[in-house]
Amino acid sequence: CPEDFKRMELEPLPLMTLDFLQILSEVCEQCYLKGSLYERNNKLFQKCVFFLTGAKLVLFGSSKNGFGFKQSDLDICMTLEGQDTAEGLDSMAVIESLAKALRKHHSLRNILPITTAKVPIVKFYHTKTGLEGDISLYNTLALHNTQLLASYAAIDARVKILCYVMKVFAKVCDIGDASRGSLSSYAYTLMVLYFLQQRSPPVIPVLQEMYVGEKKPVVLVDGWDVHFFSDLKNLHKYWPGYKKNKESVGQLWFGLLQFYTETFDFKETVVCIRRIEPLTTFKKQWTSKHLAIEDPFDLSHNLGAGLSRRMASFIMKAFINARRVFGAPVRDFPPEYPNKMEYF
Ligand code: CTP
Ligand code: MG
Repeated sequence: CPEDFKRMELEPLPLMTLDFLQILSEVCEQCYLKGSLYERNNKLFQKCVFFLTGAKLVLFGSSKNGFGFKQSDLDICMTLEGQDTAEGLDSMAVIESLAKALRKHHSLRNILPITTAKVPIVKFYHTKTGLEGDISLYNTLALHNTQLLASYAAIDARVKILCYVMKVFAKVCDIGDASRGSLSSYAYTLMVLYFLQQRSPPVIPVLQEMYVGEKKPVVLVDGWDVHFFSDLKNLHKYWPGYKKNKESVGQLWFGLLQFYTETFDFKETVVCIRRIEPLTTFKKQWTSKHLAIEDPFDLSHNLGAGLSRRMASFIMKAFINARRVFGAPVRDFPPEYPNKMEYF
């Protein structure tokens, strides 16, 4: 259980030198520059996604939120013309007939409808681009959280780099696949954003708590409030913390590893990016979970709910190891460093 590891196994760290922090920053920046994806253009999307009569398809997830890999999957949301919500829709039947339609498309392979998941999807592989994709139905909240994440990514270049590095870290350590019982990339992104909000001074604000005018607006989608401050051009006017944090990416990356191994109390506190005040697991009645990560809009959704005790320990061990490895200063890059980075 994560709390069993707290402090117990933490080795004292040698002093961090400025030189080493500089190297750490460069490693993070290189990692991002080599493998990250600038927003996918519509051409590629059109290549993979063909016309389905009466269907509207929109990209979301890392193709749009600024934290994508070149090989990231395509997350696609499908809605039907003339039908605003999924109400009254037989999702299973639509997913099955969607799979049937996709099977007729010559450049698509491995078409797999998954109707048992929380959000039913059809998976596919596009042979011409080598990309995998998921089509989900009326995943409207995901379109909104993609916008929220994209706004955080746009506030400060360090956000993109750190969220990206975190995803690479999760993939390399094999702790980033929700379909195999660990956490999704999305969950790790929320962990990074939470850390950046809690840092002193903070690197990013809490956009969901900010508003202009007397009263906080409420914008309801599927029964959840999706309002957030999106006027980023004027962020400096409304957020007193604007550009106050001057730390390097290396300092922040190491700070994040320290935060989740030394400071953050997983037993008591929820990773929650919609408010600055700590949210307790007790208040959410999520005390029986090993790791609680609240979705910023669907407040009933704990992204850590599916973690077994064993998996939670495995994830915590990966963080503890990373703290030790990244906290052990080296004087220079290893000689094979540039090739190593190709790995990402
Ligand atoms: N999503 C969600 N709730 C989850 C998981 C995912 O709403 N429990 C939505 C989010 O909008 C997220 C998108 O689905 O951005 C894609 O999730 P995921 O593939 O985990 O994240 P990506 O950022 O696309 O990461 P990757 O590049 O690894 O595909
Ligand atoms: Mg994705």
